[in-house]
Amino acid sequence: MHRLSAPVVAVLAVACCEEASVSSVAQAFTRQQADAGAKSYQTFCAPCHQPDLSGLAAPALVGPVFLRRWGPHTVTQLIDYVRTRMPKDDPGTLPDEEYLDIVAYVLAINGALPRNSSLTTTTEAKLSQLLPALPARPTR
Ligand code: HEC
Repeated sequence: MHRLSAPVVAVLAVACCEEASVSSVAQAFTRQQADAGAKSYQTFCAPCHQPDLSGLAAPALVGPVFLRRWGPHTVTQLIDYVRTRMPKDDPGTLPDEEYLDIVAYVLAINGALPRNSSLTTTTEAKLSQLLPALPARPTR
């Protein structure tokens, strides 16, 4: 049964554990952050981006257009954008922690799963790494 030679096993073990540490550390926000962010979002962002994030006067923050635009960017870039430019009528007015909660909420609504460690201002994972693959073809 032992067909794998020792070097192959070693390579597989490294591949396994690097993957695991990326998903548990870098790609992380907690359920508590997303829940707190849901409330802040409704207060500070929903007036323009709509309660369901679908956008109207402001761009949608959920769905394929948002994911295509932000997928290649890191979570840190999204956080920086939001905290320097939003709410558009009063930018930079929320505490950092509240911006993090709101971004965690936006990630959760787009399908990212909460983890055990918190989202921070230096979460270098790209949104595309956190979020489920986009459908190959547009779904109607
Ligand atoms: C007064 C209206 C308004 C409010 C309130 C507001 N936004 Fe925006 N938002 C906009 C507009 C308009 C844009 C389009 C870019 C621009 O004009 O700066 C935008 C763009 C964005 C984008 C980039 C979207 C894209 O497609 O690139 C993100 C992310 C975003 N807003 C998040 C938020 C968050 C999070 C909040 C709450 C903290 C918020 N916004 C509050 C009006 C608003």
